[in-house]
Amino acid sequence: MGNVKFSSGEQIPLEMHKVRVVQKLNLLPVEQRQDALYRAGFNTFLLKNNEVFLDMLTDSGVNAMSDNQLAAMMRADDSYAGSETFYRLEKQLQNVFGMLYFLPAHQGRACENIIAHTLVKQDQITLMNFHFTTTKALITYMGGSVEELVIDEGLKVSSDHPFKGNMNLEKLEARIQELTPEKISFIRLEAGTNLIGGQPISMENIRAVSAISRKHSIPFVLDASLLSDNLYFIKVREPEFRDKPLLEITRELGELCDIIYFSARKLGCARGGAILTNSPRLHEEMRAFIPLFEGFITYGGMSVREMEILAVGLEETLDMEVIEQTPIFIDELAKELEKNGVPVVTPHGGLGCHINASAFVDHIPQAEYPAGALAAAIYLTSGVRAMERGTLSEQRNPDGSEHLSEMELVRLAIPKRVFTLSQIKYVADRISWLYQNRTMIQGLEFTEEPDVLRFFFGRLKETTPWADSLSRKFRDDFNDSL
Ligand SMILES: Cc1ncc(COP(=O)(O)O)c(C=O)c1O
Repeated sequence: MGNVKFSSGEQIPLEMHKVRVVQKLNLLPVEQRQDALYRAGFNTFLLKNNEVFLDMLTDSGVNAMSDNQLAAMMRADDSYAGSETFYRLEKQLQNVFGMLYFLPAHQGRACENIIAHTLVKQDQITLMNFHFTTTKALITYMGGSVEELVIDEGLKVSSDHPFKGNMNLEKLEARIQELTPEKISFIRLEAGTNLIGGQPISMENIRAVSAISRKHSIPFVLDASLLSDNLYFIKVREPEFRDKPLLEITRELGELCDIIYFSARKLGCARGGAILTNSPRLHEEMRAFIPLFEGFITYGGMSVREMEILAVGLEETLDMEVIEQTPIFIDELAKELEKNGVPVVTPHGGLGCHINASAFVDHIPQAEYPAGALAAAIYLTSGVRAMERGTLSEQRNPDGSEHLSEMELVRLAIPKRVFTLSQIKYVADRISWLYQNRTMIQGLEFTEEPDVLRFFFGRLKETTPWADSLSRKFRDDFNDSL
């Protein structure tokens, strides 16, 4: 993809795969999108898929599968215990990460649940570069809390730092000294930090965090769910790794970490989860929870077909041609938006293109969920389903007050090998139009607010009616266009 030049001199990200299975899409007229938005309580999670044109909510479980992955499904060995499929996947994971023990789980948060049950004690603190929603919810559920020590640059929406997900090493050392290691449940690094714009961590930083955790005998856990994009950035932004095979990089990760876990809905383009460790003690402690929460230890809640898909998906993750497509498409979308003045997170990260809602709708107060309102407005004007990653995705403070997010982002996820370049251009076109009309968007307030992970199924309404006027403006400007 990166190495094909066009005679015109244009830089076009050329797909290095062909499409052999397709799914028909449905683009409703704007009036029907407005009805759908009201029905969904302005929460894009509550839209039905047939109301959505391009689903950019997430990449989770919706990445395209390769022909080899589909073929592998057919040889899945469906037995409750001792399945051949388990041993094939175990071997593949041992090969990729060089780690001895593998525990299967049904998805990423199930891994987090088991790790939290094993490592978190009442009132302990987990130090991390940045939290992910389910990680924090599960640690809190176990009586712990999280502290974020991402470098200051990580919280700047616009920056040219190549690894904005890095942990601040001085702060990490200082917090360990202040708290003492006994107060710390574990140190967690999240590859491709989801909530701050899919920003990567460098291998240099991973090495340093590993050394600090070993010095203080604190378990070091890597969330590798977004590793695919992070690997790409290590290769292209960290000179030491430019010519290193991806396998060498993943093996080094295995040496540096006490536990690596990931959502296979993301890494490996399947549906499941995996926990890896070299420690017999951690393995034994975590294994006890698998039959309790997941299933027998040779499937852990995963379908054996998905396990076969994952084994092949992991192998494909070691191919630069496969993993570069998402970050290059994200870059393409972000550049198109920037051309039209739309504020996006820089550097352009992985996972998706992240719009800076604080700047896009700077007239909406944070307590009225600007990123949530923008995600709703994007659906209304385009049929594209994005995800709010701001205050709405936070949990309230223990005293019930609103926990204002560090950033108000709207994420347009780019699932692997799902969308075409013309679809990317459509998204950029509609959002650029919306940017011209941004003052029409107003805030949201909850009508139904769940206590835990409220963004998943909470319902909201407009603070003042704005969706109807925006929809009318769309009709005036686009005439009979969908
Ligand atoms: C960084 C990270 N960790 C954990 C998870 C949880 O994974 P799952 O959705 O499979 O439970 C996700 C999912 O988006 C994620 O992005």
